[in-house]
Amino acid sequence: MKRAVKNFFLKLPIRQKILTIIFFCSFLALITTLSFFILFTTSRLAENLKEEMNVLAEVIGNRSTAAIEFADQKTAAENLKALSARESVEKACIYDAGDEMFANYSRSSDVSCPQPSPPKSEFMDNHLYVFRDIYINGSKIGAIVLVSDLKDIRKSYQRYFFYSIFSIIFGGLIALIISSRLARIIDKPIRGLYHAAKSVTDQADYNVHVKKVSHDELGVLVDAFNEMLLQIQIRDREVKEANANLEEKVMQRTSELEKAKILAEKANESKSEFLANMSHELRTPMHAVLSFAEFGRSETETAPKEELQKYFSKIENSGRRLLSLLNNLLDLSKLEAGKMIFHFKKNNIETPLNSVLSEVQKLLDDKKLKVEIVKSDDKTTAYFDLEKIIQVFYNLISNAIKFSKPEGMIKITIKPSASDSFLVVSVEDQGVGIPEDELETVFNKFVQSSKTKTGAGGTGLGLSIVKEILRGHGGDVWAKNSSSGGAIFLFTLPTNPIKCD
Ligand SMILES: Nc1ncnc2c1ncn2[C@@H]1O[C@H](COP(=O)(O)OP(=O)(O)O)[C@@H](O)[C@H]1O
Ligand SMILES: [Mg+2]
Repeated sequence: MKRAVKNFFLKLPIRQKILTIIFFCSFLALITTLSFFILFTTSRLAENLKEEMNVLAEVIGNRSTAAIEFADQKTAAENLKALSARESVEKACIYDAGDEMFANYSRSSDVSCPQPSPPKSEFMDNHLYVFRDIYINGSKIGAIVLVSDLKDIRKSYQRYFFYSIFSIIFGGLIALIISSRLARIIDKPIRGLYHAAKSVTDQADYNVHVKKVSHDELGVLVDAFNEMLLQIQIRDREVKEANANLEEKVMQRTSELEKAKILAEKANESKSEFLANMSHELRTPMHAVLSFAEFGRSETETAPKEELQKYFSKIENSGRRLLSLLNNLLDLSKLEAGKMIFHFKKNNIETPLNSVLSEVQKLLDDKKLKVEIVKSDDKTTAYFDLEKIIQVFYNLISNAIKFSKPEGMIKITIKPSASDSFLVVSVEDQGVGIPEDELETVFNKFVQSSKTKTGAGGTGLGLSIVKEILRGHGGDVWAKNSSSGGAIFLFTLPTNPIKCD
């Protein structure tokens, strides 16, 4: 039973709990107060009645002394009759000195006069018994007993009881009205919290905000709740951002890996191509050397001198070609290891250019190619190692010749950079060009563009050497395609001595 009440109470909404508590407490307080009030008032009434009856007994007793002295029972009875004015007195008796009944008054026959006893007042059987002695000149001549009913007290008691019931009902109602208003003060912020918490759990909506209406513990709770929601929102946002970043990073990483994979595959392909090209490059001149040596040996006696000289010069050319190939490989490995020694000097860029142009004149003539040199002004000096820049020009111009169509044009431009700190040289042809996505990779070792792979050999080392040489000078090289379809190779050389770290 107790548990059932407790469970019932626990299930009540908070507002009703508050109302119940306030109402219950007010009810208890009222009952206790009223009970004490009734007890106090009724005991007060009883005291009053006692006092009054004692006074009456004394008055009647005093008035009856003469009657007892002179054994005048009639006067004594009349004296007692005066008590009829007092409704509550039911019985009154006067006894003589020998405790014999002398006179009596009786309004009801329900009670009889008790025997006299020492003076006292006592409540017994719903009646008040008052015993008094009657004296004359200090000696006892008789006694008087009054018996009073308790109707007055009972009536007052009932009246108070009804008043109490009324005040409990009235007070309860007032308490209910006031408490329902007061409960709202506590209930309101709690309901706010309740609705916010509900929308958080039901709809996962963390954008709610609870309005603070009080500055007590509930106010602190509302602040803490709002702060908590804010923290959740911030954390939510951070998690989302982290997720987005993570996805971005994963995508970036994947694409990097993809690129690395492609590069690795290309490097592998390049290596295979290099091996194939290399063996071709090595075998062709080697073959020529052996063949012409054999011709020479077998025809030493028979062949004319000019024929034998032709064989020797072919052997010499092939040997040179082999040497240049091996030199290239050696140069590149030295450049890459940083062991190449540069002799920087202030030089005119036209010196190495002219030297290379005269060297390749025959190749140009064979393909009927024209060379145009454009200088934007007469600033043509820079700091460079002459031999190395001859190699740069040679590699770039021989490529331009190799990939140009016959009767084309090779345009060489020399101009200072905007800041004047570099000399910019470009070698432009009208050949096959380079696919856009290979403009950078052609500078890698052993790499040949997809457009020219099947062409006439080559080791794919020339541009790598060019790049390393220019980097060693503090310059750079890059490629682009010209609008007319050919390739343009540009390189820069510093116009002032470079700082050596
Ligand atoms: N002027 C050019 N026009 C078109 N493609 C070029 C040109 N110069 C270089 N290339 C491309 O770059 C590749 C690498 O050149 P290079 O390093 O000199 O090696 P190789 O000449 O031995 O092939 C060439 O094989 C070619 O595919
Ligand atoms: Mg080349």
